[in-house]
Amino acid sequence: MDGAPILAAAIDDSIVRGIHLLAAMLAVGALVFQRVALRPALDERGDPELAEAIRRRWAPWVHGVIVILLATGFWRFFTIGLPKGEADPSYHMLFGMKFLAAFGVFFVASALAGKGPALARFRAAGRTTLGVGILLALVVLAISLHLREIEPGPTAVHPEGATLPGGDAPAAGEPPRGG
Ligand code: HEM
Repeated sequence: MDGAPILAAAIDDSIVRGIHLLAAMLAVGALVFQRVALRPALDERGDPELAEAIRRRWAPWVHGVIVILLATGFWRFFTIGLPKGEADPSYHMLFGMKFLAAFGVFFVASALAGKGPALARFRAAGRTTLGVGILLALVVLAISLHLREIEPGPTAVHPEGATLPGGDAPAAGEPPRGG
């Protein structure tokens, strides 16, 4: 038996998963840091030049993290999410809710890292905006952990490399079917 494709798939998924998790930690950690320490300190200081210097350095990170979360998130959805959705239709509903909540988080992070006048009122209410972002991030995390527990459906790729059309998994020792 050639285990190389299985190993390659496992490595690919763990790398993509690791990148997704690192970006998620950075996104959520940064929101908490800004809410607890940075924003109150900047409000106390009243130093717009310092605030602008921080914003300018942080903005590319916000955009990079959003791109990484979207790319790795869609990758995971198409590779591991769709088979789970076949087994349990609630997967798609929950994924949709996670996606919307994640966009709320992206909106908050982008509004605070931006400088355009359209979103200035969200920056003016920075602490409240960050509080809403943190709540949304907790919703995203809770849904993500639930999605993780859902098992893939019967048409998922069998470790032997065959797609199982019949629904039931092959018995131990039985050769792969359908492929
Ligand atoms: C604030 C943004 C986000 C955070 C904090 C976040 C966090 C997480 C976490 C903690 C997991 C569980 C990882 C694991 O243990 O395997 C996860 C999985 C996942 N995420 Fe995200 N994520 C975010 C955005 C996104 C976006 C935008 C997408 C889609 C484009 C996405 C799609 C997925 C998928 C498909 C999974 C796998 C779920 C499963 O196990 O079935 N995520 N995410």
